[in-house]
Amino acid sequence: MKPFKNVNYTVYDSSPKEIFVFHEDQQNIDEKTVASFGDEWTTFSSFSDEEIKIAGDQYFDIVADDLLNNKYVLDVGCGTGRWTKYVAEKAAFVECIDPSDAVFSAAKLLKDCPNTRISKAGVDNIPFEDDTFDLVFSLGVLHHIPDTLQAMKSCVKKVKPGGSFLVYLYYNFENRGFLFKSLFFFSNILRRFISSLPKFFKTKTCWLIAVLVYMPFVLLSKGLRKIGLKKLANKMPLSYYTSHSFNIIKNDALDRFGTPLEQRFSRKEITEMMVKSGLSEIIISDNEPYWHAIGKRQ
Ligand SMILES: C[S@@+](CC[C@H](N)C(=O)[O-])C[C@H]1O[C@@H](n2cnc3c(N)ncnc32)[C@H](O)[C@@H]1O
Repeated sequence: MKPFKNVNYTVYDSSPKEIFVFHEDQQNIDEKTVASFGDEWTTFSSFSDEEIKIAGDQYFDIVADDLLNNKYVLDVGCGTGRWTKYVAEKAAFVECIDPSDAVFSAAKLLKDCPNTRISKAGVDNIPFEDDTFDLVFSLGVLHHIPDTLQAMKSCVKKVKPGGSFLVYLYYNFENRGFLFKSLFFFSNILRRFISSLPKFFKTKTCWLIAVLVYMPFVLLSKGLRKIGLKKLANKMPLSYYTSHSFNIIKNDALDRFGTPLEQRFSRKEITEMMVKSGLSEIIISDNEPYWHAIGKRQ
């Protein structure tokens, strides 16, 4: 690990881990969204190794082993630190940062990962020099930040020339039909309302949505798969969750409906942002979750 660039921090003892709390002002941040994630990730702080492996393999399907093995890696917007944990098995050292109270959950999840360090910081005050990391990744984060392109540029600056940047951004349903798009339209109206509720009601409402909306679609997809109608099953809304536990489904329902700021992008827009951030050799995975992409820093 390298020394921090910024010296304006305090150390919080969350034995056996320490949390380095950075104090600079941040502009490119939505405070309501960050507070909401602090609540979310302190509610959902435990993921089994199996849950992490199943979802981690999906996000990292486009990351060759030699980009991870013995490398110095940064996880931006780590939340509970589940992907930091996933990557720490292969990497030499993983730094993870998040501006929300999720870092306290990360300290629990990463307690047995000595090759990790947790910092409470955001994209505007990433506490490392530019050109530092072999791999930087940010999964499900930059669409919750007001200026996504600027946030991506801040992350990519931390990658060494020749290193890589992996990102997952919500897709805008461009590859889906009318039914999907209409469902999204209504669910987005619902999100605006639910995300403004007090924590207790928000959590309970999202739990109900997980049981009454997500689970029926997931069970239908599973059933269709069982009777051999795999193509139709894959077309079902929420079929992505057939391989995931109810814990992940509950968590994603809260993520989806409880977050005040979310933005959505097309493949083309993501590619353009990656190019503007200084990346080339861009690969966008054809697999879910849509879209996750990797590029090489020039
Ligand atoms: C959907 S969660 C994803 C967490 C983690 N990457 C995962 O997939 O489990 C989004 C995370 O982005 C973080 N976040 C929000 N604004 C941020 C900012 N300006 N800089 C860095 N992270 C931010 C939130 O605190 C939250 O933990």
